[in-house]
Amino acid sequence: MLRLVFLGIFAACFVIASSSVCLKDECDHINCTAIVATDHQPPCQSNQVTSDRSYCGCCEVCLTLVGEGEHCGVHVDLTMVPIPYDCREGLTCVKDTPLTGVCVKEE
Ligand SMILES: *[C@@H]1O[C@H](CO)[C@@H](O)[C@H](O)[C@H]1NC(C)=O
Repeated sequence: MLRLVFLGIFAACFVIASSSVCLKDECDHINCTAIVATDHQPPCQSNQVTSDRSYCGCCEVCLTLVGEGEHCGVHVDLTMVPIPYDCREGLTCVKDTPLTGVCVKEE
């Protein structure tokens, strides 16, 4: 339940942030330290993978790998990864809202 609330907050931030597209000098205006949640900043933990495809490719974000039935963030390539959760190997993120999904076994 707590995680859902957490995701909701992230989703709300995303909706605001995504109203602006990536500008050429976007990285000059993005403060990765401020924008990326502390526990998703490098160096990544053992249950996390590094992604540099977030925040217009400006910031490295540690994606926490979650298991079957858990929530994952839907990737929006080269723009934002506001919900830094991804599925473990063998699982795929099936969208349930525009921004989040649920990890299910790959067919
Ligand atoms: C980015 O944000 C952090 C935390 O708010 C702050 O300490 C740091 O000085 C900022 N860096 C830049 C380059 O503005």
